[in-house]
Amino acid sequence: MAGITDRPFRLLARRFGAGLAISEMLSSRPELRDSRKSRLRRDHAGESGPISVQIAGGEPQMLADAARYNVDQGAQIIDINMGCPAKKVCNVNAGSALLEDEALVARILQAVTAAVAVPVTLKIRTGPHPARRNAVAIARLAEAAGVQMLAIHGRTRACAFGGSAEYDTIAEVKASVRIPVVANGDIGTPEEARRVLERTGADGIMVGRAAQGRPWLFREIAHFLATGERSAPPSPGEIAQVLREQLHGLYDLYGPEQGARIARKHIGWTVRALPGGEAFRRRANEIVEAGAQLRAVGEFFEGERLAA
Ligand SMILES: Cc1cc2nc3c(=O)[nH]c(=O)nc-3n(C[C@H](O)[C@H](O)[C@H](O)COP(=O)(O)O)c2cc1C
Repeated sequence: MAGITDRPFRLLARRFGAGLAISEMLSSRPELRDSRKSRLRRDHAGESGPISVQIAGGEPQMLADAARYNVDQGAQIIDINMGCPAKKVCNVNAGSALLEDEALVARILQAVTAAVAVPVTLKIRTGPHPARRNAVAIARLAEAAGVQMLAIHGRTRACAFGGSAEYDTIAEVKASVRIPVVANGDIGTPEEARRVLERTGADGIMVGRAAQGRPWLFREIAHFLATGERSAPPSPGEIAQVLREQLHGLYDLYGPEQGARIARKHIGWTVRALPGGEAFRRRANEIVEAGAQLRAVGEFFEGERLAA
């Protein structure tokens, strides 16, 4: 997820049991390769494999070149973004805008799978709009091109993030291809994870927004799927430790100034469900300096611990 699944977040997600944590999308445009943003998005230092890098773009040759470049830089899986509804991405005919043009989708998939020896995976939505849910056709094209796994967010491009995810379309896709299908959209609890797996027949699930500020959700889901029982929630002490680690990771990756700015949203997501969390989030948003941010977080959780 762009702006979210940077290296510190991926490290936590994997540690808590996520089977795969894919990079933020990287533009396929060669002139953007050396930008600071691209360099930071390509940073996988310390991550255990497989390193999966998502590329976005709309031109087969450019995507093939980007795939090759990222494999040279250490990618062990190339994931292609055909799911993003953002204007910035779709205006250049990339992301989910591609779903309109099945011939172009086929050319892109063939070019990318031919360009690299590593597995290529694909992320899609269920179609361009509710009147044209062509996910099954896209999935078949993907399978024919040699794509090795398909993740589907159960909404059309036009639906953006509105309404609720349509798991029936994901079930149809799963029944139509032999490659592994990963169901995505609105999974927020271990029970929902199980329901979506049952309803779609999918081989796996993908969790996005619900893991923001809650990377231990992967541990909770894995435990529930294995045992049918809920595990104990993390203690305030564990939450504090996880957040501190994330903050250090952010300062380290982005530098203390930008790192502290980026950390604000993660702090907000982490404390939102805790008593006094909302007031603390507002206060923490005013803090500029990394050291002061760390101290404030420490004090908030010390208060939590004493109250517990
Ligand atoms: C802020 C944000 C950024 C996202 N960036 C990406 C991205 O870079 N690549 C991608 O495939 N999906 C991206 N997504 C979509 C998610 O991967 C996921 O498909 C969507 O949020 C639905 O799943 P969820 O309900 O579990 O969040 C993004 C979503 C959000 C909210």
